[in-house]
Amino acid sequence: MVAEKYDPYDFANRRHIGPSAKEIADMLAVLGVSDLHALIDATVPASIRQTERIDFGKSLSERRALDKMRETANKNRVLTSLIGQGYHGTTMPPAIQRNIFENPAWYTAYSPYQPEISQGRLEALLNFQTMVADLTGLEIANASLLDEATAAAEAMAVAHRVATSKQSTFFVDQNCLPQSIAVLRTRAEPLGWQIKVGDPFTDLVPAEVFGAIFQYPGVCGACHDFTPLIDALHKAGAIAAVAADPLALTLLKPPGEMGADIAIGSMQRYGVPMGYGGPHAGYIATRDAFKRNLPGRLVGVSVDARGNRAYRLALQTREQHIRRERATSNICTSQVLLAVIASMYAVFHGPTGLKAIAHRVHRDACRLADGLASLGFKIAPDAFFDTITVDVGPYQGLILKNAVDNGVNLRKVGKDRIGITVDERTRPDTLEGVWRAFGGFDLRYDESYPSSRLPQPLLRTSDFLTHPVFHMNRAESEMTRYMRRLADRDLALDRSMIPLGSCTMKLNATAEMLPISWPEFGELHPFVPADQAQGYKELIDDLSRKLCVITGYDAISMQPNSGAQGEYAGLLAIRAYHKSRGDDQRHVCLIPSSAHGTNPASAQMCGMTVVVVGTDKSGNIDVEDFRKKAEEHSDALAACMITYPSTHGVFEETVREICDITHAHGGQVYMDGANLNALVGLAKPGEIGSDVSHINLHKTFCIPHGGGGPGMGPIGVKAHLIPFLPGHPHTDGREHTVSAAPYGSASILPISWSYILMMGGRGLTQATRIAILNANYIVKRLEHAYPILYRGKNGFVAHECIIDTRPLMDKAGVSVEDIAKRLIDSGFHAPTMSWPVAGTLMIEPTESETKAELDRFCDAMLSIREEARAIEEGRMDKTNNPLKNAPHTVEDLIGDWNRPYTREVACFPPGAFRVDKYWAPVNRVDNTYGDRNLVCSCPPMDTYMKAAE
Ligand SMILES: Cc1ncc(COP(=O)(O)O)c(C=O)c1O
Repeated sequence: MVAEKYDPYDFANRRHIGPSAKEIADMLAVLGVSDLHALIDATVPASIRQTERIDFGKSLSERRALDKMRETANKNRVLTSLIGQGYHGTTMPPAIQRNIFENPAWYTAYSPYQPEISQGRLEALLNFQTMVADLTGLEIANASLLDEATAAAEAMAVAHRVATSKQSTFFVDQNCLPQSIAVLRTRAEPLGWQIKVGDPFTDLVPAEVFGAIFQYPGVCGACHDFTPLIDALHKAGAIAAVAADPLALTLLKPPGEMGADIAIGSMQRYGVPMGYGGPHAGYIATRDAFKRNLPGRLVGVSVDARGNRAYRLALQTREQHIRRERATSNICTSQVLLAVIASMYAVFHGPTGLKAIAHRVHRDACRLADGLASLGFKIAPDAFFDTITVDVGPYQGLILKNAVDNGVNLRKVGKDRIGITVDERTRPDTLEGVWRAFGGFDLRYDESYPSSRLPQPLLRTSDFLTHPVFHMNRAESEMTRYMRRLADRDLALDRSMIPLGSCTMKLNATAEMLPISWPEFGELHPFVPADQAQGYKELIDDLSRKLCVITGYDAISMQPNSGAQGEYAGLLAIRAYHKSRGDDQRHVCLIPSSAHGTNPASAQMCGMTVVVVGTDKSGNIDVEDFRKKAEEHSDALAACMITYPSTHGVFEETVREICDITHAHGGQVYMDGANLNALVGLAKPGEIGSDVSHINLHKTFCIPHGGGGPGMGPIGVKAHLIPFLPGHPHTDGREHTVSAAPYGSASILPISWSYILMMGGRGLTQATRIAILNANYIVKRLEHAYPILYRGKNGFVAHECIIDTRPLMDKAGVSVEDIAKRLIDSGFHAPTMSWPVAGTLMIEPTESETKAELDRFCDAMLSIREEARAIEEGRMDKTNNPLKNAPHTVEDLIGDWNRPYTREVACFPPGAFRVDKYWAPVNRVDNTYGDRNLVCSCPPMDTYMKAAE
């Protein structure tokens, strides 16, 4: 027998493309289509097809790709960075690195919208919220924001909404991080707010502002008590926010005790590598009174159907879900994985350990300052935590260079000062290297305790992290088991497909993930000199070039660190473009009613007026309505936002026409790139008529969802928009900064780059075809049981489909939620529920899933349909049935069984594995109870005891 030839593209088959050649043939036969090309021809309109193939040369094998990543990583030079400015060296405990950061059970999970299968990460996030609330001395914290700078902007937006002051100016402490000031300026301008930057003790006039933000400690190290300023702001009806360093807060009085209304910051130094800028978890905390105005996701405590404690996302009916174009925040993907890591770092060290780390950091800062003072340098400030600046007169350049020669990066401050920030990783030889850079060749690190330079009146007296979870026995055995227990409660991609429409939960291949653990990618400060980040430059440049080829755009900005952030950056570019042409009056944004909630929210944040366009009964944009509204607002038309293929899962034939109408009226086209997985290799947004798109690298390009973040949402633009792409104070000093770091969450870019390198143009295109095949196969298997809401003109769907479950409600009282929960019994995560159409499920299988897995899912869905039929026909009780009681837990099994169906039916419906059965840890979670009794920090211990009784 001749051995089968090993095809180099087999990589794609074995890794990213789930179905084998035989399965592909079988599925095509079920569809009644001769081959894959015929399916694509019948599905993707000829009018939008790209004519040239993507050619990236030869694709790389897994080993070659890893070699390439290693070569690239080696071009980054890892020095010790004492630059500070919001980024610090830190150590991720190895147990956390292996069991969370590198564990697919954590990093491949989706956002915890289905609480019953998310109890593990919800608990970890609740720990995060408790930690943030405790550290800041405020009552309620959310489950993370994108970074510190955007958190500052969110704080400003909350302040504007809740302040009684009617002023339009926001005061910004000049000691805030430069990148935060830049992002605040970007956010304020389109909304008509003014930013006043100054010394809060001399320049702040409370009656003239709706709020203010102070940095604590300031970027140059000073620690001030802002209590009197906060009192004065409150008297004027204004809101006070404090950007605070969470490590300093273990020793210093928290913002809440100064009377602050909001605290924000970054939890990066709690064990998360600097990663050349990200990803890290930003945080925001506030008073109880403002809890309904908190942006982002908030984990709360509720009960399940048995009354047992259960976690779930609270107050979900805010912002984009309900407020849409009136929303003041567009945050969707946040930084769950990084928040989980930071919370575990706190669990790992506990309050005593955190304080010990903070004291050690402070002592090293004191030793550093004493050594420099002994060399005759003037140090400021007198009291500090970890940051000092040194007056170096004309020697700034020389000393900075000496420091680099000694392996250390310091910060240039003005023309004659140098800033130094000490961190957890600082060692005796680090300080000795710094002293040498300043000429102190004979200074030696001294173990004796220097006298503290912490500001004595500001010492923290209150306890924090008092909850038992932060006091567990921290033997690594216990820690490992805790992380394992939480992971086991959740359902992630490492157990089953997650067929979430619009979310593209595809494989995150191991080879793509390995490099992000390497220090050459992880340990770079985002503001290191360019020559130390040559590897990153090569990666970012090549990835950008390839994304341009894939999308048909002329340039890419890597700054936006989520899809929604990309929308915001893209619309800002459109706005600036109009302004540059004197078209200041263009403020209308046409958005179809089916758009994702972040679209109108982003438009609102850019000061645009949203005009909603209808869709027709086939799910397409109603072209006549679109034309009418474009004409009506012709002079004011700034943009339209469309998603392609549509959020209804079809390739609209009219997309070019929509783009033409928009351009004819002087508007620009923003194409939401969430569905790019259906286009790669087949059609390019930039060639269809779009001017700008975001590209969710955490969907189409394999960055895992991390349980709700990180993500990356770079934008591609046509040439005329290039001048308006986001700038950054560190790189080019241009405006429109949208993220804290110049390249957003740079350290996860190796994932997307290696995916593209290993797939090559052919592999990427094949992936798109298979994604479409898989979706259509599901349609074929389910269409007799569930109406398929929308299809293209030849009866095929794009890479996802919407099935209508409303008939089950009408006939059997079975809701879409009942179906979602029953799928858990079969071991599945539900598809996207009730979006973009209420009472439906949107299924996106992606190319990664094998036919066997698709069949397992379809079997589960068909069995649910039969259960509903049994109710409909009176063979099953209307309320006491497996659908209404789902998900079933071990608790259900061990009690008396008095249900009108068997335990077997309850727990082992089609799809469920016998031995490897996934058991939901809780029964159905009561959302209303949770919102009525809002608890968003770890519940007191006695409730745990009651639960155990
Ligand atoms: C169509 C669409 N647009 C925008 C977004 C927002 O992307 P992100 O969550 O990365 O901010 C999503 C996210 O699911 C989406 O599905």
